[in-house]
Amino acid sequence: MDKIRIVGGNELKGTIPISGAKNAALPLMIASLLTEEKLILENVPRLADVALLQRILGNHGVDITTNGKRNGDDPYAGQTLEIDARVIVDTTAPYDLVSRMRASFWVLGPLLARIGVAKVSLPGGCAIGTRPVDFHLDALRALGADIEIDAGYVVAKAPNGLKGARIVFPKVSVGATHTALMAAALARGDSIIENAAREPEVVDLADCLIKMGARISGAGSSTIHVEGVARLKAARHAVLPDRIETGTYAMATAMTGGDVMLAGARPDLLESALDVLRQAGAEIDATNEGIRVRRNGAGILPVDVTTAPYPGFPTDLQAQFMALMTKAKGNSRITETIFENRFMHVQELARLGARIHLEGDTAVVEGVERLTGAPVMATDLRASVSLVIAGLAAEGETMVQRVYHLDRGFEKLEEKLSRCGAQIERISG
Ligand code: UD1
Repeated sequence: MDKIRIVGGNELKGTIPISGAKNAALPLMIASLLTEEKLILENVPRLADVALLQRILGNHGVDITTNGKRNGDDPYAGQTLEIDARVIVDTTAPYDLVSRMRASFWVLGPLLARIGVAKVSLPGGCAIGTRPVDFHLDALRALGADIEIDAGYVVAKAPNGLKGARIVFPKVSVGATHTALMAAALARGDSIIENAAREPEVVDLADCLIKMGARISGAGSSTIHVEGVARLKAARHAVLPDRIETGTYAMATAMTGGDVMLAGARPDLLESALDVLRQAGAEIDATNEGIRVRRNGAGILPVDVTTAPYPGFPTDLQAQFMALMTKAKGNSRITETIFENRFMHVQELARLGARIHLEGDTAVVEGVERLTGAPVMATDLRASVSLVIAGLAAEGETMVQRVYHLDRGFEKLEEKLSRCGAQIERISG
């Protein structure tokens, strides 16, 4: 298994190109199931999760071609996928694939809406809490689906198609909003989705569906209206920039000090996180090229943060922010409200010398003067990158094990950081 070796202490200086958003690319790829015509997606990041979803869609009979790279092309430019779901050969998504990536469960809505039947494995356990799928199933039931659970599979049928309905989510869920949006797009009649997720990735999905001929208004607000249509058509869409990758490198820069341009990043997608970084002492400027992040010799100030659905502070940046706070001049409180048990990084950060204790859903971080390198273990995607951030500011060598977690969500991480002066390398093994 590959490892990442970091020798901390260097400031970051230079440019980091921001990739397309993983969390938008996945639902957009899945939306291809809604049409017999071709969906062309640009700016798709090269990530293990994207490759796995290609396999899962392939299993349903979807043809995907990827553009080749030519000499002289920007090595950081995203890939273009041409996705052709004309013939669906299999409406089952098997356990061995779905259990490897939770988002693949989202094929349920579009398969059901277009074909009238789908059998999708329950995603199973997950390192960051129980993460049930009840909201997805309730939304599809509201749209008229008949759903049973049989031997670990969701078996869904709608022989006469889905019918528009009012869907009210008891709690904001990004995935369930994607499911409701895709299913309602092909339902007969009008749907209203209330307490919908407002995340930019929901808006990106809605924008693409609209290009495909869907009638959707209100995406980005808590109430989304969908007027169902009989079929969707070919479209071309570019995936929006990854706000979590952006926030991660912004925090890395705040941690090490230095001056980094996050090229192609969009500040409007992560205002709450940028605000918090400013409070922590970083200078943030929006420019035509992207977001410039700087921190000079002044220390890191402690800031209290509570995660919340968009536009609040994202849970997907909580671990990275905690890494930053380990070196703050004082104590900070970080409260996680979206997922229970999303504090696995605490133990590992402690191995680098961080002082953190948990009080229920809150981590109290006591800033320390110095971190020292150590071997650490990646436990999930965002937790593992928090260890990289801490390692960049720790004295000596940090070896991050189980980096396949990082490869799920961060494209060319070591390259992007070493271009800016970090001492970081992958050790294959
Ligand atoms: C998505 C993101 C993930 C991010 C999360 C919250 C992708 C691929 N993943 O995950 O990176 O951390 O949003 O911003 O986009 N819940 C239920 N029942 C359900 C569905 C969700 O109780 O049927 C709960 C979850 O346990 C959690 C909360 O709702 O407590 C929010 O989860 P949700 O927004 O659905 O997360 P995902 O869409 O899985």
